[in-house]
Amino acid sequence: MKPRVLITSNDVPSAGIDLLRTKCDVTIIQTTNPSQEDVLQVLPGHDAIFVTNHLNINSDFLNNAGTSLKVVSTMSAGYDHLDVPEIKRRGIKVGHTPMVLSDAVAEIAVLLTLNAARRTYEGRLKLEQGQVMKNLQWLLGQELRGSTVGIVGLGNIGQAIVKRLQGFSVARFVYTGHSRKKAGDELGAHFVSLDDLLEQSDFVIVSAPLNNETRGLFDDNTFNKMKKNAVFVNIARGQIVKTNALIKALRNNTIFAAGLDVTDPEPLPPDHELLKIPNAVVIPHLGSATVKTRNDMSFTAAQNILNGLEGKPLIYEL
Ligand code: DGY
Repeated sequence: MKPRVLITSNDVPSAGIDLLRTKCDVTIIQTTNPSQEDVLQVLPGHDAIFVTNHLNINSDFLNNAGTSLKVVSTMSAGYDHLDVPEIKRRGIKVGHTPMVLSDAVAEIAVLLTLNAARRTYEGRLKLEQGQVMKNLQWLLGQELRGSTVGIVGLGNIGQAIVKRLQGFSVARFVYTGHSRKKAGDELGAHFVSLDDLLEQSDFVIVSAPLNNETRGLFDDNTFNKMKKNAVFVNIARGQIVKTNALIKALRNNTIFAAGLDVTDPEPLPPDHELLKIPNAVVIPHLGSATVKTRNDMSFTAAQNILNGLEGKPLIYEL
């Protein structure tokens, strides 16, 4: 009998589904964003679960998942929605899809950095309101040229961001994290403390995972340490930032602007205050949303499952 795999969305690119179908019986939940309960109704009896849309897999979920589960594979790089120690404690393999999305997410980081720095959202609002001025000092922005760019978390995505920004004549790259990295040396980036990064950087770009160390890292205290001209960019996870503190920093001009692919809550309700702030460029978590990258993520998540079911190491195992 073929192993059985459950896919938790009917919106997964076919690359992964086709690969799974070569060796497995595949069940697809016929909705895009099922609840834990919806998934648990069909999961028992399956050997692997292909996780989409950050479905939360915790101890309670596993208690109700039946006894056949051998592999959990999330179609995402981030895995803050998975209780990884608990999954592994139960002898279940767990994998994710980093690397294949680094370039796409880095492109979004560049897009947000430039848009926030050059006030494109504010300019568009002025156009719509018929308030365009001819003054020479109207709507002036910040430049990457000659600036210091600080990267919070120099993982694969952080490194991909530095590589792209090197073309913009940035004067200095600094980064913070657990330790100095060889990759940082190779990129000519300097390892500094978080406080030094905040004090020195004209651009602060967050590309760190969400965990107990980073949850709520950007609060009143952190924003107050940043330069007044600083542009803050978050392409990681919304919960790394205290939303109210960011709103205050933007409204009071404690910092210059923000570019956000991720927010807390996510998605933002249409009437959320963050969407009313002219110096906040906000997009709805589009980091990996390209045709090519989502195909690659789908394929990698499927390959993780096949490897796990065949007793091989996953491509990207947690
Ligand atoms: C990821 O892969 O973690 C991205 O945020 C998309 O979910």
